[in-house]
Amino acid sequence: MAAGTATVGPIRPTAVEIDLAALADNARALAGLAGTRLCAVVKADAYGHGAPGVATALEAAGAATTFAVSLVEEGVQLRDAGVRSPILVMGPAQRGGHAEMRARDLTPVVSDAGDLEELARAGGGPMHLKIDTGMGRLGVDPADALALVQAARAGGIEVAGVMTHLANADIDDPGEPDCLTWRQLDRFAEVSARVQSVAPAAMRHAANSSGTMLFPSACLDLVRVGLALYGNGHWSTDASLAAPRRQAMRFVTHVAQLRHLAPGQSVGYGALWTASRPTVAAVLPAGYADGLPRRVTGHGAVIIGGRRCPLIGAVSMDIAIADVSDVPGVALGDEAVLLGTGTGAHGTDTITTAELAAWSGLTPYEITCGISKRVPRVYL
Ligand SMILES: Cc1ncc(COP(=O)(O)O)c(C=O)c1O
Repeated sequence: MAAGTATVGPIRPTAVEIDLAALADNARALAGLAGTRLCAVVKADAYGHGAPGVATALEAAGAATTFAVSLVEEGVQLRDAGVRSPILVMGPAQRGGHAEMRARDLTPVVSDAGDLEELARAGGGPMHLKIDTGMGRLGVDPADALALVQAARAGGIEVAGVMTHLANADIDDPGEPDCLTWRQLDRFAEVSARVQSVAPAAMRHAANSSGTMLFPSACLDLVRVGLALYGNGHWSTDASLAAPRRQAMRFVTHVAQLRHLAPGQSVGYGALWTASRPTVAAVLPAGYADGLPRRVTGHGAVIIGGRRCPLIGAVSMDIAIADVSDVPGVALGDEAVLLGTGTGAHGTDTITTAELAAWSGLTPYEITCGISKRVPRVYL
């Protein structure tokens, strides 16, 4: 056995469960709503859900036509896992990676002339061109797009797609014709038509989850969805309600210890919480090193026995404490749900990603991406 190799399986009961059927249902519902092809955005380890497990399941279910990652390494990881569908590498850190992308049949998203030159040196192949229509981050200026496409074609590079990314689709009002999203989409319509005049086969894509939900005309030839695919985000439109989504991630642990606190006894670092009544406290083996943000301190809850129990005291690196005084019959080993649905003798309740994010002052993206590597992902 090599030094450092783990010799035991997980002992601690803290785990993330991923509902693969929910993911496939979400993908199908989103593709149906969009009326077009679906690219599953699985960068950052599928937003913390585990990219190989998510992508292989979606591919096997026929629920996504394409996958998108940020890094070359993430694309290689998917190929190593056996994913055969097209994989877009969208991120900015591609220099030095074009030969590897070509070798592993990964499709680069080209955002500037330097990228294009390196792609040509690596032997060409298909690429998607990214246009900056208002995100102000990656992408070529619309005025330079045609010259780049012509340079690509002259170098034997196929422009298989033209894309942009929306900055404000989650906050803009689609009824406001001058909002940034509509202005971005207008610019994209104009520049993508010019690109297609030279590269007619180039597919056009612009919509992220919010674009797909709120701006139907953004859906074009492909939608790139992450947040909604994982069952997160909230869009209260008739169309989005017609495409119900289930949160795919559950973050669970077990009650490791029960403590009986007398009034006046405090809990945790900084003694931030003090019992004002006789209290039963459940010690939970999960903390901020696992991805339960320390910033939920004073706001958070977990579900035990199907009932919400407030987290008390500061969340520490490996431990959180819940007040279970109002849940009769809690026993050692009972499940404690930090994220997702918990069912027990006292009912059923759900902590959504949005809720945990609000408690922590974070976004839902940061919650799922923040579940650390030491928490095993279990695929259901
Ligand atoms: C270029 C690009 N497209 C699509 C997405 C997916 O966005 P969302 O998770 O909001 O659907 C992202 C994610 O940040 C992205 O960077």
